[in-house]
Amino acid sequence: MHEQLLNEAKKAQQRAYAPYSNFHVGAALLAEDGTIIPGANVENASYPLGCCAERTAVYTAASAGHRRFMRIAIVGPGPDLISPCGGCRQVLAEFGDIEVIMAEASGRIPPRVMMLSELLPARFTKEDLDGV
Ligand code: THU
Repeated sequence: MHEQLLNEAKKAQQRAYAPYSNFHVGAALLAEDGTIIPGANVENASYPLGCCAERTAVYTAASAGHRRFMRIAIVGPGPDLISPCGGCRQVLAEFGDIEVIMAEASGRIPPRVMMLSELLPARFTKEDLDGV
């Protein structure tokens, strides 16, 4: 069921630019209209400027006009399943609650699916800015 999205995330993982950590991550975000937007981590010689795969996907998608999403697949190098960092959880949550499929490249461990709201309960939202 999640096969196609996972395959796109694996393809994105091949395009990761991670010469410093050598930790290659790929993501594929499914928009409500069926479009799949890939993302890979892109590192920089100035280390803090690197961007995670998930954020690359969200920013690429939002820049293309997408606002509503169904799920994201994330593939890490293993041996464990990848788990999105706190910053990416917050960035993903900006556009609502979605399914998060966490995987590792070899497929040895079956992917785990969680709702973003489970991964990031009590998130900061635009409603928190109301009345400021
Ligand atoms: N990274 C991601 O792209 N996604 C994650 O979920 C975890 C970490 C990247 C950031 C950095 O380029 C490398 O993996 C090592 O932290």
